[in-house]
Amino acid sequence: MTDLHCHILPGIDDGAKSIDIALEMIKMQEEQGVNKVMLTPHFKIDEMTYQDFIQKRKESQQLLFSREEYKQSSITFKTGSEVYFSLKLLELDDLQSLCLEGTDYMLIEFSTKMKPYGIKEALMDLINLGYTPILAHVERYGYFAENPTLLYDLVMGGCLAHINAETLLNNGVRKKTAMKYLKWDLVHFLCSDSHSCEHRIPNIKEGYDVLRKEFGEEYVQWLISNSEKVFDGKEIDLSVVKKPKKFLNFWI
Ligand SMILES: [Fe+2]
Repeated sequence: MTDLHCHILPGIDDGAKSIDIALEMIKMQEEQGVNKVMLTPHFKIDEMTYQDFIQKRKESQQLLFSREEYKQSSITFKTGSEVYFSLKLLELDDLQSLCLEGTDYMLIEFSTKMKPYGIKEALMDLINLGYTPILAHVERYGYFAENPTLLYDLVMGGCLAHINAETLLNNGVRKKTAMKYLKWDLVHFLCSDSHSCEHRIPNIKEGYDVLRKEFGEEYVQWLISNSEKVFDGKEIDLSVVKKPKKFLNFWI
């Protein structure tokens, strides 16, 4: 299995606080049956310059890559980032370094509080520049849940989307939202978005187990192969998206 989104790189964001925690998280990923991991630390252009981020990411990589436990790991690692959406991103000269390593896929998260201004236009601009946005944990955003046709339009426009395994392990509103997105075929990947060994842990296997019960093995294998293809910089086979419809006050 491949995990395209996790915060294992130590000391760079709100993920692994130390090299020991990072190594423990790697062990947990192995126990989950994960063999390919994309390291995706947060990049917020409003809080850190692009140059500082690239430098800090490099230092964190060097620290992790120097450890024997890392070298002995059965996992293949690549490095990318989780880019916080901002219109300022389009002003950067080098967007490639923010993509998932060796690919044109860019993992992008949004504010959970308010719908970002210019979201559709900016994402379409990125697509026109040759990048494929992967929208992180789409079940988190209230403005998508209130009007899922926004997510539908983004996916129809060429964006891909992932949900978090953690969401499926809690019976909350987010799980209900995620289930609807899955049924509409607006989701392409399951990721751990793991941040530590105690909270928000590597748990992608448990997430897939929930999906297996709900949607069957063939669907799970499609999701698994999507993540692997993206890790390898390949295109995924897209499914036919269903348009959410409003009936009375519910999206069905
Ligand atoms: Fe994340």
